[in-house]
Amino acid sequence: MSASKRERREQRRAGALARRNRTWLFAGLVILGLAALAAFMALSAPRPEPLASQAQLALGEQVYAQTCAVCHGDRGQGHLLPGAPALDHSEHAWHHPDGQIQQLILAGGTLMPPLGDQLSHEEIVAVIRYIQTWWTPQQLEAQQELSQQYPLFEP
Ligand code: HEC
Repeated sequence: MSASKRERREQRRAGALARRNRTWLFAGLVILGLAALAAFMALSAPRPEPLASQAQLALGEQVYAQTCAVCHGDRGQGHLLPGAPALDHSEHAWHHPDGQIQQLILAGGTLMPPLGDQLSHEEIVAVIRYIQTWWTPQQLEAQQELSQQYPLFEP
């Protein structure tokens, strides 16, 4: 084999290698670009508004301890009064929209007493927001969607 032929072959091989390297570099850049775009979209996606301020939650905690815990348990575990369900994530509470819970607190249920005379509107809203902190994000999201049809109301 002549020296020039060998040289040409080596050049061809080097060229193919360089092309392959460029392909990988290009693929790598595309992947990096997509990852950066995904990160940007995740960061700039609208976040849900927090439902309550820290002050509201502190008020809700106080109302809960003074008014609700005697039947529903200090952590919402339920059944201190037989028939009083859990209000945390473990049972059914999160299936009720905001307005229905408000109505129940105002007017009472079968066994639950009406509390509308004891609690202000502000206190009722605060205690609802407080018990919602016990729900999973998925439960809260589903419940908030339902609440669009039966939201909190001005009594
Ligand atoms: C005297 C006991 C008692 C007190 C006090 C009480 N509840 Fe209840 N609650 C019940 C009972 C019993 C039920 C089940 C429905 C019924 O029989 O009225 C209930 C039902 C509920 C439900 C519906 C739960 C479900 O899964 O359907 C919610 C929400 C609730 N109570 C919230 C509260 C909040 C918030 C307070 C305090 C502001 C409170 N309750 C105070 C006894 C009580």
